[in-house]
Amino acid sequence: MRKSMLIVALISAGCLLAQDLKPVSLPQPQTDSGRPLMQVLKARKTTRDFTADKLSPQMLSNLLWAAFGVNRPDGRRTAPSAMNRQEIDIYVATADGLSVYNAQANRLEPVSAQDIRAATGTQAFVATAPLDLVYVADLAKAGSEPDADLYTAADTGFIAQNVYLFCASEGLATVVRGSIDRASLGKAMKLRPEQKIILAQTVGYPKR
Ligand SMILES: Cc1cc2nc3c(=O)[nH]c(=O)nc-3n(C[C@H](O)[C@H](O)[C@H](O)COP(=O)(O)O)c2cc1C
Repeated sequence: MRKSMLIVALISAGCLLAQDLKPVSLPQPQTDSGRPLMQVLKARKTTRDFTADKLSPQMLSNLLWAAFGVNRPDGRRTAPSAMNRQEIDIYVATADGLSVYNAQANRLEPVSAQDIRAATGTQAFVATAPLDLVYVADLAKAGSEPDADLYTAADTGFIAQNVYLFCASEGLATVVRGSIDRASLGKAMKLRPEQKIILAQTVGYPKR
């Protein structure tokens, strides 16, 4: 069997480990485009009907940068986080597998080659829309003060709103979601015990 055929067979069988998969560099985000803010706010809305069309690598890069990319030389981001802890990771679930956004390196770090979109929520569209983002708090970074839970939820909200605004600017459809079977999704994502799923958000092109 040729090497490429073997890799395809292993991926299909779910036998490839994360370390066998390669990071995917994203195109440089385009930060000089988009509609004016007030028009974007007028257009912001939830949409739950998606086509299966995939986002281009450039669109995905722009989306992730808008969501929680690095926008200053000191490593700070497009969304605020309590005490600049930056404890929220954005996992990216597509038909090609699961990866996590590395904002500093502007790339996707592979987690698994399995399509886990269906596990990211309880609504049917999550399985067929091209992209489900999952916002995961790293509790090891989140701090232990009594309000730490509130902060992780708030930090996630800022990221989700950035995604809403980017989608409104680009004519994309999106819905942020709390309706998730967190136990089974955590297993499908192979999360560590200190990682907590906060919300998910589906993104794609609207059905006309
Ligand atoms: C924290 C949070 C959780 C949500 N969870 C879901 C969800 O699980 N499924 C869903 O279809 N919409 C969900 N929504 C979207 C809301 O239903 C939607 O924002 C609301 O109906 C207002 O519509 P709009 O966003 O178009 O203004 C959620 C919104 C928020 C802020």
